[in-house]
Amino acid sequence: MTEPAVPTVDERHAARLGEQLADRLEEGGNLRSPVWRAAVTAVPRHLFVPAFFRRTNGPRGTLWTPVTAERTGTDAWLEEAYTDTTLVTQLDGGIGPTDADGPVPGDPTSSSTLPSLVVRMLGDLDPQDGDQVLEVGTGTGYSTALMCHRLGSEHVTSVEYDPAVAGRARAAIKAAGYEPTLINGDGLLGYGAGAPYDRLIATCSVRTIPPEWLRQVRPGGTILTTLSGWLYGSGLVRLTVGDNGTAEGRFLPGTVSFMIARPQAAPALTSVSELLEQAAHERPARFGPEVLSDWTPQFLAQLAAPGAQYLGMSKDGGPMLDHLVDLAGPSFATLLTDGEGAFAVRQGGTVRLWDAVEDAVETWRRAGSPPQTAFGLTVAPGRQRVWLGDPDGPSWPLPV
Ligand SMILES: C[S@@+](CC[C@H](N)C(=O)[O-])C[C@H]1O[C@@H](n2cnc3c(N)ncnc32)[C@H](O)[C@@H]1O
Repeated sequence: MTEPAVPTVDERHAARLGEQLADRLEEGGNLRSPVWRAAVTAVPRHLFVPAFFRRTNGPRGTLWTPVTAERTGTDAWLEEAYTDTTLVTQLDGGIGPTDADGPVPGDPTSSSTLPSLVVRMLGDLDPQDGDQVLEVGTGTGYSTALMCHRLGSEHVTSVEYDPAVAGRARAAIKAAGYEPTLINGDGLLGYGAGAPYDRLIATCSVRTIPPEWLRQVRPGGTILTTLSGWLYGSGLVRLTVGDNGTAEGRFLPGTVSFMIARPQAAPALTSVSELLEQAAHERPARFGPEVLSDWTPQFLAQLAAPGAQYLGMSKDGGPMLDHLVDLAGPSFATLLTDGEGAFAVRQGGTVRLWDAVEDAVETWRRAGSPPQTAFGLTVAPGRQRVWLGDPDGPSWPLPV
């Protein structure tokens, strides 16, 4: 994409917008300390988002409209840059706002995250003076700059996978006056040369905690990351690192989700029609596809079937059917509606995917359907598991 230039703005107006953003974040309860307020008011967000996409949901699904000062006028662009909104800056791993003439479809692959979530997570991370912090997922560099303001650039290292995104972030962070260590590479490998770190924050999500993170964060240090997967279940977890590749911690409140770390993205579901035609066992379903769209049940479904992906597909022009497909098995489950609210499930392949999903959801219901804060994660070499209640409670292994 053409590199968008940052337009000249009225600095005092931008500073006022920064103050107003900080006020809103405080009122919402996400900006909880004066040191992070000072960072929000000092770091001009507009430097990090000279061009972004505005989301619109319409009859043709989600479309992304490019926003730049040139297209929308400098004032409108500037004001939008200071809203508490996630500003998507890249689609499908390479399409930027200056590549599009008008609204386009696509999946977000880089953004400046929702400021209220950024500051909430920085509060959850709670780095102290002198701490060394590793950030995974530089994105636009906005959150990196906030940390530089709070801790000093020499205490911040940030890794970005996408070279073009990393290049733009580098320029923006420099323009804002900061000089952290910026690495273009795979953040799942951390950055060993800067270790040990006191804290690690990931602004992309992971299916499983990378062993390098456990080696590079000192014992007693903190890892804050979202755990997600191929069924789009998600949860923010804060781990305390132990000795010898161990860590443990609980999930935090809220419905927090991030784009998945690129090397862990789900494989494409191609040529599955044949798989779905295979011999299958059919029975009445205990739960229908609603468990795949409610926050905590969706998370449980993913824990129970970590290799499964969702596929909505119709057969021979019939109604859209909900399928789970695990290519590794391969295995599948198809939900069939009777049209009156009840479902049957057809399951084939090596694993009964829907049996596992239903068992997990029932375990959670028997425990009183608690919120995600009732879950925790224990990490040991070669074994990671999410548990319910306490570490000895029901648990589900992660795909290590
Ligand atoms: C939500 S954005 C980051 C937001 C950013 N912290 C900000 O404030 O602008 C997520 C970023 O993670 C990056 N990413 C994805 N997988 C990664 C990986 N394995 N290592 C490092 N960065 C990764 C994406 O390219 C994307 O830029």
